[in-house]
Amino acid sequence: MSTIQNISIFYFSGTGNSKKVALWFYEFAKERGILCEIVDISNANRSSLQKINPDSLIVIISPIHGFNFPKITLNFIRAFPKGKNRIVLMNTRGSVKIGNRITPGLTGVAFLLSSLILKRKGYKIIGQIPFDMPSNWISIHPVIRKKSAQFIFDKNYHRAKKHFEKIYAGKNDFASRKDTIQDVLISPVSFAYYLIGKFFLAKSYYASYKCTNCNLCIKQCPVKAIREVNKRPFWTFKCESCMKCMNNCPVDAIETPHGLWVIVIYLTSIVCTCLFYSLLPEFAQFWIVKFILFNIILIGYMWIFYRIQQFELKNRIIAKIISLTSLTHYKFWGRYKGSDN
Ligand SMILES: Cc1cc2nc3c(=O)[nH]c(=O)nc-3n(C[C@H](O)[C@H](O)[C@H](O)COP(=O)(O)O)c2cc1C
Ligand code: SF4
Ligand code: SF4
Repeated sequence: MSTIQNISIFYFSGTGNSKKVALWFYEFAKERGILCEIVDISNANRSSLQKINPDSLIVIISPIHGFNFPKITLNFIRAFPKGKNRIVLMNTRGSVKIGNRITPGLTGVAFLLSSLILKRKGYKIIGQIPFDMPSNWISIHPVIRKKSAQFIFDKNYHRAKKHFEKIYAGKNDFASRKDTIQDVLISPVSFAYYLIGKFFLAKSYYASYKCTNCNLCIKQCPVKAIREVNKRPFWTFKCESCMKCMNNCPVDAIETPHGLWVIVIYLTSIVCTCLFYSLLPEFAQFWIVKFILFNIILIGYMWIFYRIQQFELKNRIIAKIISLTSLTHYKFWGRYKGSDN
């Protein structure tokens, strides 16, 4: 008989992939007659963590953003009280279908960091399992077609079942170990994303002229990152780029300003070239100094231009021109939903 009597599943999900895997685990647990609760991290009451049964198996699942768990997930993990439960950490990563294969995503430091935090609190990590689900990052690529997404879901469903059975049988499951080398190699990028990239991306959403001011995006954002400025949604630096708003907008009004990206990157390059080759003293010409300066200027420009863009969006003609420079404006680009979220 399995030693698992109770399971508490905690998930965070922007576009539904992680929620889907969480629901699969819930279904498998129920089939085995295990008492199971499933909790959305973005609605979770932190005090409920104190009430977790000490014998419960805890499962945490969240997407990977920039080779790490998003801040909302890391904060939730940090809020765990001291305990001795067994924990299975899972993630969903971005993949695409090529022929009959699914490309692997990259976990980066997500498992390492969260395992360290939880172990220090006394928990026992018994599993680290990544799932390669359809990539939802439609700011940078068009949506994965329904048929390919379904193929990826089917493969993952069978994998999830196998992983569940392994854990149910009382075994540890560190499926992530085969990725250790690439996860360690990519770790510097995960810190750069956390400290810099994330803020650039936070300004990469805007509400186009199609916006009906229904405020759904403001209400649904899991981290309350959208507020109203000039009577339209405005994305603040708190945004986690989970893609929920962009994919749930009823009129597909939320877009990524690719035109603005081109202008900002071009201007940053010009300023940095002048700065690095004529003003910056030789002793400061290290790649790390240049990298940091480049990114500070980039985010500074993004902040300024984003404000101007927000103001200009009031003018319908200018708003239409901005939209024309956004790839996400065009129908073929599409929107992604892994499950209702
Ligand atoms: C801003 C952003 C960053 C991402 N970074 C990564 C990454 O570093 N590695 C990866 O494998 N997938 C990455 N992805 C893809 C998502 O992790 C993947 O599609 C995930 O399944 C989405 O889960 P969700 O639907 O539960 O939100 C990223 C997606 C976004 C939007
Ligand atoms: S959900 Fe879409 S239509 Fe509604 S306020 Fe947000 S951007 Fe506008
Ligand atoms: S603003 Fe949109 S993309 Fe950013 S965290 Fe909120 S729902 Fe996610």
